[in-house]
This record gives sequence, structure tokens and C-alpha cells, in this order.
Amino acid sequence: MVDLPISHHQGDTAEEVQKPVVSHEQKAQMEQAYQQMQRKMRMQKLETDIKHKIMVLSGKGGVGKSTVSVGLALSLARMGKKVGIMDIDITGPNVPKMLGLDNVDLHVEDGRIHPAIGAYGIKVISMGFLIEDPDKPVIWRGPIKLGAINQFIGDVEWGELDALIIDFPPGTSDEPLTVTQSLPSIDGVVIVTTPQEVALLDSRKSINFAKTISIPVIGVVENMSGYTIRGSAQSNSTITIQGPSGVPLETTTDSEGNWSLTLDIFKAGGGADAATDLEVPFLGALPFDPGIVRGGDDGVHRIVAEPEGQTAKAFDKVVEKVLITLEKSRSPTVNIS
Ligand SMILES: Nc1ncnc2c1ncn2[C@@H]1O[C@H](COP(=O)(O)OP(=O)(O)OP(=O)(O)O)[C@@H](O)[C@H]1O
Ligand SMILES: [Mg+2]
Repeated sequence: MVDLPISHHQGDTAEEVQKPVVSHEQKAQMEQAYQQMQRKMRMQKLETDIKHKIMVLSGKGGVGKSTVSVGLALSLARMGKKVGIMDIDITGPNVPKMLGLDNVDLHVEDGRIHPAIGAYGIKVISMGFLIEDPDKPVIWRGPIKLGAINQFIGDVEWGELDALIIDFPPGTSDEPLTVTQSLPSIDGVVIVTTPQEVALLDSRKSINFAKTISIPVIGVVENMSGYTIRGSAQSNSTITIQGPSGVPLETTTDSEGNWSLTLDIFKAGGGADAATDLEVPFLGALPFDPGIVRGGDDGVHRIVAEPEGQTAKAFDKVVEKVLITLEKSRSPTVNIS
């Protein structure tokens, strides 16, 4: 902290008059500049302290960005990685609730904000922690919002992390732009989409946005993909069920009498088609799972509630692909002998 003498109007001794004299206002300005400089230096340090920084975006709202962000973080943490999640959504910060941390007060020490700790030790920072009344809409003008994001990035005591997942509000607004300007060396963007054809249009917007701000696209995840129902009956028999719109769907039981059928509630393959069409990697599909909705309300993510379940396995597959893509993008393209 700078410690400068303040100007006194009367009674200064000859010795004191020799010192540089600054007003209270100047002193406050210099202290602010000093703090900003320190914050900037801390932001630069994040380049090495946090190995991978992954932004999660979508062209439209409600497709499951926050669910996927938390799922990616938990899945990585289950693999033994040190993981943080930063929830930048000011108007709908859902991450604390999804992790059962909505009543947590953050610990602040020496001006440094310590993240809350969620399942599997993931470090969590959310705009939600700053909002006193969750029922009141947050109306922050641009500069205040952007200042808060910078503070989040520069003043949080993340420690060393293998990965930081950043969850955003829907669309291509100020927030991702601010984060890319403040946080050095972002690895790339994971785009979340649902399987409908319209998703292609929305994903295209997100991909173009990533290109505009020169951030690589790690790939597209299709969320709320087919809903699988299961049952059992006599072995090697045919099962017919009434599918959506009354269309009969058929399957057969296996030698143990088990059967399963996947209903494509939102059509199928939109994510994979979008990825092919837009020439970016397809990272995989996550099933439609009513347990995800329950988990979001109860504060126990599906991965935590059922670590060996289909949804947890699907998240693990997506994470494996993300890690492969990140490794590829890190490997040098030119060999120097
Ligand atoms: N795979 C899934 N299966 C079933 N429900 C899901 C799935 N993914 C997300 N949901 C549900 O869909 C709703 C929206 O999810 P979420 O809040 O993650 O979306 P979002 O894209 O972050 O929304 P917003 O744009 O408002 O930030 C939630 O109720 C969530 O529980
Ligand atoms: Mg969200």
C-alpha cells in the first residue's frame, strides 16, 4: 500500500514542507491506481497458476450451460484434478444452488476473496454470493458489472488449479468479452446446445463470436439428448411402447430380460450436425435426465447423487474429449530440430 504524506494547510515545519505534498483526493487516486496495478499483476499470474481456462457458452438460454459447467467441473475433479468454477451470470447465478452452496458466506482475508468449496473439493465463485436478496432483480450498469467481473478474476484466491470452468449468461454479451480481455491465455470455448435444428443457428452465433474474439472452439456438447427408459420382461421377447405422438416403438429384451429404449424428445443429432457443419469437434451428448432437474433443485448434482450412473458416465466421456482436444491444441504444430 502506498503511504504518502497528506498536505497540511498551516503549521508545517520547514522540514515537512520539503516532502512531496499530495491532497487526500490525490492520495486516494494513487492508492486506487496502485490497487489496480496489483490486481493486474495477479491476473497475469493466473496464466501459470491456472493450467486450463474453459469458457462455457450457448447461443440461447436454458439449454443447460450451468448444468454442463458444474458437470464438467465435477467430472474433472473426480478424475483427481484441482478444479474451480466461476459463475459470471449476474441475472441468474444458479451455480451455488446446483452445488448446495446458496447460503454460503464467502471468506475474505487481506482483501482476497476465498472461494466456497463444493463437492469433490471444487472451488466455487459466483455472482450469486454477492447478491443479498435473491428475489430482487440485479440491475447493474455496464461499467459496474464489468468492474465486478474484473474483481472476481483479480481478487479471488484461486491457488493453483488444473482447470477453471467459467459459466456465462446466455448469448454473446459483454461478459465473455470482458473475461477474455482480463484473463490471460483462455484455452477455448465449449458450446452447449440442445438437439433441435434451430440449435444449429444458435451454435453458429456462438462459434462466430469465439472466432471474432480469437478464442479457439474446443467443441460442441449436445445436452438434453435422448431420454432412455428401461425395464425388464421375459428374455428374448419383443416390447412395444407408445412413443411420442402415439407412434409405437419396438425393442427386444436381452437374454436376462432387460430392455431399454431411447426417446428423442428434442429430435436427435442437432449437436453433432452443428459440429460437422461448423467444422468444430463434437464433444458428445448428455442424456435428458429428470434427475438433473431434481439435483438442480436439491443442490446435489446428478454426478454426486449417482456417480456410476449413465449421466455421470456421459459427462466423463465429454471431459475425456475436452482433455484430448486441449492436449492437441497445446502440442506444437512446428517441430524445431
Ligand atoms: N440433461 C438434462 N436433462 C434434464 N434436464 C436438464 C438437463 N440439463 C439441464 N436441465 C434442466 O434445464 C434447466 C436449465 O438448465 P440450466 O440452468 O443449466 O441452463 P442454462 O443454459 O444455464 O440457463 P440460463 O441460460 O438461464 O443460464 C434446469 O432446470 C436444468 O435442471
Ligand atoms: Mg445458467
